[in-house]
Amino acid sequence: MLALHPAKKLSFNRPINNGDLVIVYERHDIMKAVTVSEGSVLQNRFGVFKHSEWIGKPFGSKVVSSKGGFVYLLAPTPELWTLVLNHRTQILYIADISFVIMYLEIVPGCVVLESGTGSGSLTTSLARAVAPSGHVYTFDFHEQRAASARADFERTGLSSLVTVQVRDIQGEGFPDTFTGMADSVFLDLPQPWLVIPSAAKVLRHDGTLCSFSPCIEQVQRTCETLRTCFTGSSVFYFFFFLPPSIFSDFPNVCYFFLFNVIYMQLA
Ligand SMILES: C[S@@+](CC[C@H](N)C(=O)[O-])C[C@H]1O[C@@H](n2cnc3c(N)ncnc32)[C@H](O)[C@@H]1O
Repeated sequence: MLALHPAKKLSFNRPINNGDLVIVYERHDIMKAVTVSEGSVLQNRFGVFKHSEWIGKPFGSKVVSSKGGFVYLLAPTPELWTLVLNHRTQILYIADISFVIMYLEIVPGCVVLESGTGSGSLTTSLARAVAPSGHVYTFDFHEQRAASARADFERTGLSSLVTVQVRDIQGEGFPDTFTGMADSVFLDLPQPWLVIPSAAKVLRHDGTLCSFSPCIEQVQRTCETLRTCFTGSSVFYFFFFLPPSIFSDFPNVCYFFLFNVIYMQLA
């Protein structure tokens, strides 16, 4: 996907090669990830498209079928990958991903710990944000999901930026080897409060934490644990469908975007 340019820059500013992943765009709601393979064809309602005719064209090109139909060959950015990936779980979409990355202050060089990996939708964007010198360590306790995510990161060219590990993060926490090393921790787990003590251990002093939960009960339990574990870090807490009454319970909280986000400055 985000092929590392010789100058160590993430770039699609080169022609499509044999073996590249492209997003075949028919229309905004019909897109498909295809690995270019000389000798293969893509067949759809617009006709037969020879991969060999794609090689050497720039990303974004319009290509024509035997019947005169056309598709566009788009570069596989994280934004597009999120729309075409194989859903093995619920996933984060662009609106939430951009928010998360912004508020976690993730920049090139950051070390990010994530759990669970799920379908790797967020992980893909995290990888682009930390590239070329940072790294994302992502954990899921579901072996098959972890294996599929690993295969996806190989396919998208991100495997040098992402390490997928099988681990029960709620039961065991993050590995001790990460103590004090993480710039950011992201949690998308059913019981995130169980992981807060471990997150406090692995985060650097000025690290950031985001826990993504759809239910207010999860949020409340996590906030309670946050108070006992964090004293000097910048922490934000992000969730959906928050009833306004929550704000009377958390006086040091300011909020953004119609109750979607709580930002807690615990320093
Ligand atoms: C909703 S999915 C994450 C989706 C992901 N954020 C994405 O954008 O694709 C939640 C994941 O957490 C994993 N999970 C649940 N409990 C876990 C635990 N105790 N340790 C590690 N992973 C866990 C599940 O297997 C599942 O893959």
